[in-house]
Amino acid sequence: MDGVGSVQGGIHSASSEACPQESLERSRSQEKGRFITLEGGEGVGKTTNMAWVCDWLSARGIEVVRSREPGGTPRAEAIRELLLDPASDEPLDDDAELLLVFAARAQHLARVIRPALSRGAWVVCDRFTDATFAYQGGGRGLPAARIAALEDFVQGQLRPDLTLLLDMPVAAARQRLATRGSQPDRFEQEREAFFSRVREAYLARAAQAPERIAVIDAGGSLDAVQAQLGERLAALLEASP
Ligand SMILES: Nc1ncnc2c1ncn2[C@@H]1O[C@H](COP(=O)(O)OP(=O)(O)OP(=O)(O)O)[C@@H](O)[C@H]1O
Ligand SMILES: [Mg+2]
Repeated sequence: MDGVGSVQGGIHSASSEACPQESLERSRSQEKGRFITLEGGEGVGKTTNMAWVCDWLSARGIEVVRSREPGGTPRAEAIRELLLDPASDEPLDDDAELLLVFAARAQHLARVIRPALSRGAWVVCDRFTDATFAYQGGGRGLPAARIAALEDFVQGQLRPDLTLLLDMPVAAARQRLATRGSQPDRFEQEREAFFSRVREAYLARAAQAPERIAVIDAGGSLDAVQAQLGERLAALLEASP
């Protein structure tokens, strides 16, 4: 199971104050970890850069929990298998796909993400809800409002603090995957037009939330990509007490 595991470090102390509003804000900034997601289409380098991001954070004394979606717990990984299984004897309905993605996410949030954040760990996740807007929204054509309703239902107020969107032309990313050599899963079997819609949907979300979503040019060398990632991580760390 690539992408699931944890790296130990240790930081963040708790404190309680008299003023309820102030203490609520402090509890968000002082007791809660940060939530970072890696996003982008197939083959852009999310998994490749995951270890680098986690190492960058843990080298600075941060407890890092590394995970991925769909998945991140045994039951959620079982849902991932259902979602990725390329068997074509029973096509998966688009709404069923959407609900499975959020069922896996609810389990992942309850068992891994929320507990980690509330003890002050930083969570780094390979894909999250922006991928749902991109794949099930842009790719499959499901209405964004339906996805947003499920996002509110499953996540409440929780959103990533920083999303690193690895962006590059679809054809070049597909070329990278060709060299990876594994069997294509149910999404990888889609046509180029599907991935172009996914890319456009990701970029549209980044344009709507530029303060959260950093668009990283993923088409260059790993060193060039990681220089950009390091800048964004440093900015988040700088802004975190
Ligand atoms: N900057 C880069 N330059 C050249 N090759 C790269 C770069 N980044 C990643 N690769 C290679 O591209 C391939 C795809 O990378 P990776 O598996 O990390 O992508 P991914 O975004 O996780 O893909 P998927 O969406 O399928 O999980 C791998 O073989 C990886 O070694
Ligand atoms: Mg990957």
